[in-house]
Amino acid sequence: MIKGKKILLGVTGSIAAYKSIYLVRLLVKAGAEVKVIVTPAAKDFVSTLTLSTLSRNPVMVDLFDEESWSNHVMLGRWADVMIIAPLSCNTLAKMATGQCDNLLLATYLSATCPVVVAPAMDEDMWNHPATKENLRKLESFGNNIIPVEKGDLASGLYGEGRMAEPEQILAYISSNFFLTRPLAGKKAVITAGPTYEPIDPVRFIGNNSSGKMGIAIAKELEQRGAEVTLIIGPTQIDISENGISLVKVKTADEMYTAVTDRFAESDITIMAAAVADYTPVAPAPEKIKKQAEHLTVELVRTKDILKSLGEKKSKGQILVGFALETTNEKQYAMDKLQKKNADMIVLNSLNDTGAGFGYDTNKITIFEKGGQEFNFATKSKKAVAKDIIDTIIRLYYA
Ligand code: CTP
Repeated sequence: MIKGKKILLGVTGSIAAYKSIYLVRLLVKAGAEVKVIVTPAAKDFVSTLTLSTLSRNPVMVDLFDEESWSNHVMLGRWADVMIIAPLSCNTLAKMATGQCDNLLLATYLSATCPVVVAPAMDEDMWNHPATKENLRKLESFGNNIIPVEKGDLASGLYGEGRMAEPEQILAYISSNFFLTRPLAGKKAVITAGPTYEPIDPVRFIGNNSSGKMGIAIAKELEQRGAEVTLIIGPTQIDISENGISLVKVKTADEMYTAVTDRFAESDITIMAAAVADYTPVAPAPEKIKKQAEHLTVELVRTKDILKSLGEKKSKGQILVGFALETTNEKQYAMDKLQKKNADMIVLNSLNDTGAGFGYDTNKITIFEKGGQEFNFATKSKKAVAKDIIDTIIRLYYA
């Protein structure tokens, strides 16, 4: 993991610099050796005394003073990873154009280690074409960008531009650089897709779930080393992934049995399926012929799989549920977390464009058992799967 790794943290002039204090604490707590460089502007936002005390190393600011010269080349070679968090618009522009008027920039230009940046700015600055262009340049240099999140901004406005939370930065670093297959030897069960509840031999009650999100999560779990079983309801998507055991089910009841049978052995269980909440009490054995003007089909509640797993869960097992809401999203998601004894709920809001059934993108908020809430930007389902698995790995190894 991160223990013993050498992390060089660059802090630039942004209100979000207060979060870098907590990031240093998390990194040191995780056993990393941390050195901090601040830009001159960052000193107006955060105390170097706090950063040096927490990092247990002197904070570096200047390329040189009257007596010494900071060896930026060796600093960049010393680090296993360089993180710039927060990354201000100004430093971003300088990095994109190769300017070198402070120690942080000189170290960035000479760094041979991977560089990760976590931008922080107001939404309008974030959306400016110059910012987008500069980020594209950084990406083309091979730098890694942790996208901004949506939330309250320093301007008092609400929107995109918040720096990712320190926990997410730590999870990103751990899973991208220090843990190639962190889930090796772990078993994971994931459900995906809809369920079809038969009314008669040719008709059913179903929903629009495509299964894409669950499939993306299954692939991500497999890439991180887990032994994955994907239990999937009826879907049009072709799933022929090597290394993933596939169990095809139709009804909520079949899904219940398939998951329950594997739960005791499973280290990580993720209920991403859109399971029907009701099923016909007595499906007709033959096709129902049309007769009367009205037809009533009596429905009964299906077994709540997530809830029953939450009741059986033992220490060390991670249980993740999904929530898809149209109103009062946060409250409903928090309620589910508690009622179902889950470790984490992934909320999709149908109010967000690009999120939900059928799209190739998704926008999620993660609610953790400890009460933390993490908002993510709209991303491809593959990138969302990465965020979900990063969070699960952090919880699993906490
Ligand atoms: N789920 C389940 N078993 C069911 C129904 C849903 O395990 N019979 C799981 C889903 O896979 C998802 C979560 O529960 O992880 C969704 O919670 P749920 O309470 O079913 O959400 P809603 O269907 O929106 O329910 P409500 O009407 O109570 O909000």
